[in-house]
Amino acid sequence: MSAKIYRTVHELKGFSLKNCPPMPLPSGVLMCAPDHYQVLAVKNPYMAGHIGAVDRVRARRQWEDVREAFDAAGCPVSLIEPVPGLEDMAFCANPSLAGTRPDGERVALLSAMRHPSRRREADAFEAWYKTRGYRVVKLKAGGHDTFEGSGDAVWHPGKRLLWAGHGFRSDSETFAQVARAFETPIIQLKLVNARFYHLDTCFCPLTSESVLIHPAAFDAASLELILKIFPIVVTANEADAGTRMACNAAVVGGRTAIIQKGATTVSNHMHALGLGVCEVDTSEFIKSGGSVYCLKQFLFDRPAAK
Ligand code: ARG
Repeated sequence: MSAKIYRTVHELKGFSLKNCPPMPLPSGVLMCAPDHYQVLAVKNPYMAGHIGAVDRVRARRQWEDVREAFDAAGCPVSLIEPVPGLEDMAFCANPSLAGTRPDGERVALLSAMRHPSRRREADAFEAWYKTRGYRVVKLKAGGHDTFEGSGDAVWHPGKRLLWAGHGFRSDSETFAQVARAFETPIIQLKLVNARFYHLDTCFCPLTSESVLIHPAAFDAASLELILKIFPIVVTANEADAGTRMACNAAVVGGRTAIIQKGATTVSNHMHALGLGVCEVDTSEFIKSGGSVYCLKQFLFDRPAAK
């Protein structure tokens, strides 16, 4: 299986989604309760003006609603213990990327976070994955390049293909290691707008054929790549993408989209594509630059033995 990286449509010559081997959909999600959640420093534009301004009681309620939404959508939720002092640990998407290799082996690739305050999160995730039988893979020792897990690496639904974003948090140089860890090809996209600092803030595959994006987040070559692969491209406007973080939705079981409430145009498009839509309020987490997608890590557990 190739671990090739594609950066332009020209390089995509000969590549077809049809020839991409299937990949199982996630079996569930991993979440971390926001016990220690707070905005302590401005790591992305959403956080400006919100230092110390998280209402933790409200955040907890909103987090419980997100957790219930995953459960109700038939997506079991596993939990990792929150660590004191790690104020962003509720954003489980970032410290790792879980997936499978072509032989079915389950792999968790640990991230190298850009901000020192988030680096210790990976240790807690490493221990968690080991108890669940994942092979834990680390990036090359001594490397300077960052990688922010499933915030910047998104699985194509049902296909052995990763979409990766760079420009703010992850360095494009690390993607070769990501591709090798999962023995999976990567289509690489460049993010050019600081408000959309992670790929999961502006890119959300809805089905194997359709994707939700905020076009102004990407450079021209990246938009070409997206248009080349997805026959249906739904766009989120500035208010839905930038204020409501609509592209940070999560589609589970190929059936249900869980999304921040109020992005009506986007929700209507999702309905039109045959998806059920479950709206939740994540406003306390948007203060920190995250919504539904980044409050969880997609897992690839083996089905329980009968
Ligand atoms: N405050 C966190 C940070 O800036 C938010 C992370 C949100 N995660 C995401 N995948 N978009 O690191």
